[in-house]
Amino acid sequence: MGCARAYPILKLTCQLQLLVTFLAVTTVAPSTFRSAADRAGLLVGTAVRPSLFSEAAYSQTLSREFNMVEPEDAMKWWTVRQSKDAFDFREGDEVIRFAQAHGQKVRGHCLVWDHNNPPWLASGHFTSEEMSKLLHEHIATVMKHYAGRVFAWDIVNEGLNEDGSAKDSPWYNQPGIGFAGKGTEYIAQTFRWAHQADPKALLFYNDNGGEELNRKSDAIYAMAKDFKQRGLPIDGVGLQMHIFQLKVDPAAVAANIARLTALGLQVHITELDVELPIDTSGQARPEDLARQAEIYAAVVRACVQNPGCTAIQTWGFTDKYSWIGSHSHGTQGAALPFDRAYKPKPAYDAIIKEITSAPARQ
Ligand code: XIL
Repeated sequence: MGCARAYPILKLTCQLQLLVTFLAVTTVAPSTFRSAADRAGLLVGTAVRPSLFSEAAYSQTLSREFNMVEPEDAMKWWTVRQSKDAFDFREGDEVIRFAQAHGQKVRGHCLVWDHNNPPWLASGHFTSEEMSKLLHEHIATVMKHYAGRVFAWDIVNEGLNEDGSAKDSPWYNQPGIGFAGKGTEYIAQTFRWAHQADPKALLFYNDNGGEELNRKSDAIYAMAKDFKQRGLPIDGVGLQMHIFQLKVDPAAVAANIARLTALGLQVHITELDVELPIDTSGQARPEDLARQAEIYAAVVRACVQNPGCTAIQTWGFTDKYSWIGSHSHGTQGAALPFDRAYKPKPAYDAIIKEITSAPARQ
């Protein structure tokens, strides 16, 4: 109803009321990832590089849009353990400082992986006993350093093969920490050590290629179920969700999230990005950007529909700084929700819309 028929004296009041209603409606709809996520009771995070905090657009976008951060490389062995006898927490501490200054949670990544290790680890020709001591000491020292400041950790990253068997690694069988040939027993041991180091931290197993329903996700599920049945301290499973060639089956992702959360575990989407074909100047086609938005929306929907899926994280947020293109596939890029100039892409609105329409959670 308009104000046209009101008496002149009441007309102004009526118009003011309409203005107030209009402003209320337009400001109520969440306009950032962060405001949408805060209202939905969800964590929305991203991988970060502390060397970029000094770039104004980077840190402004990061603090405005996300209520959680995870160091992309700053808490990995190759950063923290450049030498065998010293721990270097400077980069990781920078991430903590940034997060504390902006009221964000910190997710830790990662303590046990066959990649991103310092060269001395491979060239040291350590025995299993020495490897066990090194890893135990590493988990204890790093987790104690960050106790109370990192709320959840990827303890083991990418520990299984596509067929579900334990992957060859310095921690499993090359030479391993004493459980070579015993499948996931070495993973169980690392979770025990992690729980001793920081009993309050949430402990995650994180992997890629096991987001949908296949041999790998069956094996992750079986391991998680086994750990739960044996009372081992596992709190969640991280689904990396690097989506290549625009291929994903959201129904299978939802089914996998459902079976994991039915075990009483949390699921975090940990490394979401959706690479696109790009031309030589780094541009993606409009139709691919539209498809990318649909895929982001479908993955976010699969998570927010399940109250046990408690966090969604992208692997970086601006195409200016993304491992896609620089590290993996030369002709692919444009994988993140913000372009190289920090302008939101179609995926941005699509993600906000999904979070906003999520069923209420605690
Ligand atoms: C990547 C980082 O993005 C790069 O900066 C680094 O050079 C290599 O590692 N799965 C993971 C992440 O769990 O740690 C990887 O991060 C990407 C794949």
